[in-house]
Amino acid sequence: MAFFNPFRPSYVRDPYPALHRLRAEEPVHRAERIDAWIVTSYEACVEVLRDQERFSSDLGRARGRLGEQVAQQHREAVLGGGGRMVASDPPEHTRLRGIVTRAFTPRYVEGMRPFVEEEVGRLLAAATPGTPFELMSRLAEPLPSAVIAAHLGTPAEDRERVVGWAIALMRTALIVGLPAAERRAAEEARAALLDYIARFTAEGAGGGESLLARLAREQDEGRRLTADELLELTIDLALAGNDTTANMIGNGVLALGAHPDQLALLRARPELLGSAIEEVLRYDPPTQVVVRVATRNLRLGRAALAEGDTLLLMLGAANRDPAQFEDPDRFDVAREGAHRHLAFGLGVHFCLGAPLARVEGEAAFAALIARFPDLRLAPGATLPRANDWMMRSVREIPLDTGAPPA
Ligand code: HEM
Repeated sequence: MAFFNPFRPSYVRDPYPALHRLRAEEPVHRAERIDAWIVTSYEACVEVLRDQERFSSDLGRARGRLGEQVAQQHREAVLGGGGRMVASDPPEHTRLRGIVTRAFTPRYVEGMRPFVEEEVGRLLAAATPGTPFELMSRLAEPLPSAVIAAHLGTPAEDRERVVGWAIALMRTALIVGLPAAERRAAEEARAALLDYIARFTAEGAGGGESLLARLAREQDEGRRLTADELLELTIDLALAGNDTTANMIGNGVLALGAHPDQLALLRARPELLGSAIEEVLRYDPPTQVVVRVATRNLRLGRAALAEGDTLLLMLGAANRDPAQFEDPDRFDVAREGAHRHLAFGLGVHFCLGAPLARVEGEAAFAALIARFPDLRLAPGATLPRANDWMMRSVREIPLDTGAPPA
């Protein structure tokens, strides 16, 4: 009988064998213990992602455990009352996405490339031969944080403080039942950020080219956005692009390090960098789960779902579906069609930050390959994983920096 238990350490270490089994046996599987349907085939994930009528992103509509969690999250919300874009349905989603898309343009993203490359250079310059370089804390995590600071238009001297506020606020959106002290800290962070934004907009955001400045110039139904709305949209973007991008870099380094032939191929053919990043995202996507709620009684494949049922779309499973990707467990930086992965979702909620994530990935992998000839792990590295089955995340990846200078 099909079975799904993502709480085992072996699943967190390597979920793919269990996901393969489940997809083969029952691609839409009812997991009573989690109170959700587990969707593992590419085809069924695509069907759900493309259909906002039958499958809602407003998780407040869920019955059972998820609905209760969302209600608690709303009661505890520190971030104003507006719906987050990713958790809204059309027409509200269309309105929010429209505002952000007008500011977060391909040109804006391309304009960030020199900043991202410079930042990667600065972070990697600190890798001293002979001393292990811990990838996550020294490159993968600081890089998206620096990008958040750039979105907010924060001068370098304020960066740590402002990003600290943003991260405190982001945690309240991610974690239900935060301790009282952390909630108080988040309230203070929200007040501080609102004050920062108010000063910033008063000082003439007109000229600035940060995302916040661009959003501040946007109109929503004929009016400027309030400081609260600006904060919410900016934090939304920061939240969505922080851990995801860090883990894309971490997972990519692990995949390349474990496949020296693929690393050698990429080194020999740098034009494969773009396709290598797509393959990293296919092979080991940071976001493993996207959630939807059935809006009515319906059928998905052979399963009969009831209104309010929760669906967990297992993106890592879809990305390794043999019906879509030949020999799916093979890591192949030259794979044709790797970009059809679902690591960024699909449909109206398709990741808004995908072009920026790719810019960050290109800058990071190009520089890492140049700096570390074989991306070898430091001797004795244990690679502790976050105890999280929804995000593929290794907390520490110490790299060997080669022999110290004589
Ligand atoms: C490798 C890095 C990233 C991964 C794996 C990733 C993954 C995803 C996924 C799977 C979704 C779809 C969620 C759903 O359908 O419910 C999504 C949406 C989103 N992502 Fe990303 N993301 C990444 C980077 C970024 C970055 C850098 C940003 C911002 C600058 C960002 C902003 C967003 C936003 C705003 C949405 C919601 C879009 C909407 O609801 O219309 N993401 N992302």
